[in-house]
Amino acid sequence: MADNGPILVTGAAGQLGAVGRTVCGLLLDRGLPVRAMVRREDDRAAALRAAGAEVVVGDLLEPADVYRVVSGCRRVYFGMSVSAGYLEATVTMAVVAREVGVDAVVNMSQMTVSQMSIQNTTSSGQQRQHWLSEQALAWSGLPVVTIRPTMFLESFFALAAPTVRNRDRIVVPFGRGKTSPVAAADVARVLAAVLADPGPHLGGIYELTGPRSQDMHGVAREFSDALNREVTYSDIPAEDWERELKKLGLPEHLTRHLVTMGELHRAGRYDRLADGVERVTGRPAISVREFVSLHADEFGGRRS
Ligand SMILES: NC(=O)c1ccc[n+]([C@@H]2O[C@H](COP(=O)([O-])OP(=O)(O)OC[C@H]3O[C@@H](n4cnc5c(N)ncnc54)[C@H](OP(=O)(O)O)[C@@H]3O)[C@@H](O)[C@H]2O)c1
Repeated sequence: MADNGPILVTGAAGQLGAVGRTVCGLLLDRGLPVRAMVRREDDRAAALRAAGAEVVVGDLLEPADVYRVVSGCRRVYFGMSVSAGYLEATVTMAVVAREVGVDAVVNMSQMTVSQMSIQNTTSSGQQRQHWLSEQALAWSGLPVVTIRPTMFLESFFALAAPTVRNRDRIVVPFGRGKTSPVAAADVARVLAAVLADPGPHLGGIYELTGPRSQDMHGVAREFSDALNREVTYSDIPAEDWERELKKLGLPEHLTRHLVTMGELHRAGRYDRLADGVERVTGRPAISVREFVSLHADEFGGRRS
C-alpha cells in the first residue's frame, strides 16, 4: 500500500446524485490527493482535472481496469450508478483492493439493507445487490466503512420536478407513508470526512437520513414554504407510476428499483430517522425546505 498515495473516488464524473464528484471536490478542498475514476473523457473529466484531481478512465466491470486505477492508492470510495452489474463491480473491487492492499474501502450502500435478511429481501435487484455486496465485503476481511443513505433528495425530486413546475403538485404513489430523504451533498460530506480519516470509522455502518420523517403532505408543505406558492401531494396508483416510468425509457433494472421504492414507501419502510450526517460531520442534514430553496428554479421558481 502507498501510505501517501491518492484516495480513489469511483463514479467521479457524477450523474444523478453526483456523490463521487462532490466527494472529489471536498477532498481536494482538504488538500488531499485524489484519483478520480471516470468512464470516459468528457467535459466532466476535464472539470475534475481542472479542479486538481488525477483523472483515470476505466470500467468498474473490467478487472484489469480496476487493478490499474486502484494500484498506488491508499484508500477507496466505491460507488457507481444504479445498474445491473453492481454486485460484480463490488466483488471485483474487493478482489483488487485485497491484492493491492488499502487502508480503507468506503462502500456506498442503501438504508433498505438495514431491514433485509435471507427471509426478507425486496423486489429491487439493486437493493439485493447492495445487501449481497455488503456481505461479500465483510467476508473479504478488508477494512470497510459502510454508508447507508435513505433516498436522495436529488433523485426523488428529479422525478417530482416536472409536475411541481407545471402543476404545483408532487405526484408519487407513496400513500400516507413517511419518508426522510437526505441530500446527496450531505452524503458526500460524510464520505469525505470518513475518507480523510477512516481509522475511527473502520467496521462502522452509518445510516443517513434527512432531519424529519413525514408523509408527502408534510413534504408538500415544505415545498410551499420554500417556493411561496401552494404545492400539494397527489397519491397515484403504483401501476400508473410504473407506466409513467416506463415511458421514460430507463433501463429495466432502474425502473424496477424505482417501482420497489414506491411500494416500500407505501408500506412505511422509509419511515426512518438516523443521525449519521450530524454524528460524522458535526452539522445536521439539510431539510426539504432548505433543499427546495437552494434549487427553487428547478421547481418553477419562488413567488415573490
Ligand atoms: N439515488 C438515491 O436515492 C440513492 C439512495 C441511497 C443510495 N444510493 C446509492 O448511491 C449510488 C449512486 O450514487 P450517485 O447518485 O452519486 O451516482 P451517479 O451520480 O449516478 O454517478 C455514478 C457514476 O458511476 C459511473 N459508472 C456507472 N457504471 C460504471 C462502470 N461500469 N464503470 C465506471 N463507472 C461507472 C457513472 O458514469 P457515467 O456518468 O459516465 O455513466 C456515474 O458517473 C448507488 O450505489 C446507489 O445505490 C442512491
